[in-house]
Amino acid sequence: MAPDPSFAPTQLAARAAYLLRGNDLGVMTTAAPLLYPHMWSWDAAFVSIGLAPLSVERAVVELDTLLSAQWANGMIPHIVFASGVDGYFPGPARWATSALAADAPRNRHTSGITQPPVHAIAVQRILDNARTRGRSTRAVAEAFLDRRWDDLVRWHRWLAEARDQEGHGRITLYHGWESGMDNSPRWDSAYANVIPGAVPEYQREDNKINTDASQRPSDLEYDRYLWLLEEMKSARYDDQLLPKVMSFAVEDVFVSAIFSVACSVLAEIGEDYKRPHSDVRDLYGWADRFRSGVLETTDQRTGAAKDFDVKADKWIATETVAQFSPLLCGGLPHDKERSLLRLLDGPRFCGHPDLKYSLIPSTSPVSRDFRSREYWRGPIWPVLTWLFSWAFARRGWAERSTSLRREGLRQASDGTFAEYYEPFTGEPLGSMQQSWTAAAVLDWLG
Ligand code: SER
Repeated sequence: MAPDPSFAPTQLAARAAYLLRGNDLGVMTTAAPLLYPHMWSWDAAFVSIGLAPLSVERAVVELDTLLSAQWANGMIPHIVFASGVDGYFPGPARWATSALAADAPRNRHTSGITQPPVHAIAVQRILDNARTRGRSTRAVAEAFLDRRWDDLVRWHRWLAEARDQEGHGRITLYHGWESGMDNSPRWDSAYANVIPGAVPEYQREDNKINTDASQRPSDLEYDRYLWLLEEMKSARYDDQLLPKVMSFAVEDVFVSAIFSVACSVLAEIGEDYKRPHSDVRDLYGWADRFRSGVLETTDQRTGAAKDFDVKADKWIATETVAQFSPLLCGGLPHDKERSLLRLLDGPRFCGHPDLKYSLIPSTSPVSRDFRSREYWRGPIWPVLTWLFSWAFARRGWAERSTSLRREGLRQASDGTFAEYYEPFTGEPLGSMQQSWTAAAVLDWLG
């Protein structure tokens, strides 16, 4: 048998850069060439993290494109559609946001939901990279911050207000796609209560591109995903009406933890670059509120975090990566944090004896819900490895951060830049040439 190809770091970095160039449509980078031929919100943030070491100027363009599609209420939509590109469903006609939503932009087609708020992290990476460059590059990054600061704060304000109307310190999602973890077992029980009404006829595109059904969500799941769109459309995507009309509403602990740390990051940028005190104060306030919201969900003994099903009024405890949310935003008492790190290192996650690489599977291999190839139900996602590696470095855990980076690079050295990987065999799955996987590699090797 031929050995697995394994690229040396310089080759791998060159291939990653080449990939991003190939997926570049000019002012936006597609999330992946075939499966995701448009701009996705959190993908765009990670892409700009990968672009920053190559070209701060091009990284800034990526975020500018995304922010130019921001809604009037402050929401960054989860998809900004590339003009004239077909082959993805649901496309602009199905979302119909321009026709229905008062807040949707008039000059761009977007979806009508949102995605995890990782963008402040990208802004920080861009500014960090710019500081190592000449004066003109620094000026580009600073001009971006001048131009977009208010938009970034509006984005965070929208999340804190429209998506936490009860002040729980947790972000409410009205569609599993908003979590980025579409078919995670985290959402099974909430989706079980979504009874699709008359879903207008549709044809999936994703399963024509990835024809292995074991790697993608099922048709039953898609019916529910599409039904939720109809519910949103009936409310014309109105923030105040969504809590009343939606049959899916969950408080996502992972997104809440990301939001907390992103608020801290943006506040720090605000302090460094002398933005208004009132903005910085609000940002730190949200960072605290959402950190408390995350900590409230944690198990007394293990420190593991839970989501909350708003419709069913019950906690959702699953053995997924979301359990580790508090490690992203910090704040757990010392002994609880130690227990949670033991859980992470132990046989239920990174220490499972059959794992090819010691990385965090999206769902624990010992869970009944685990499926080794199926999207968010088990595979290892390089972008999450990057996020945890970044967060651990920020928390001062250099060794943990380096270990994730090292294992993440070993996994990516096959050069496929897969969307996700089978945890035991290391088989690349989902889309190949996924932009954010290349971005993670570029940042690691930068
Ligand atoms: N991830 C979803 C998809 O598969 C949508 O964001 O299309």
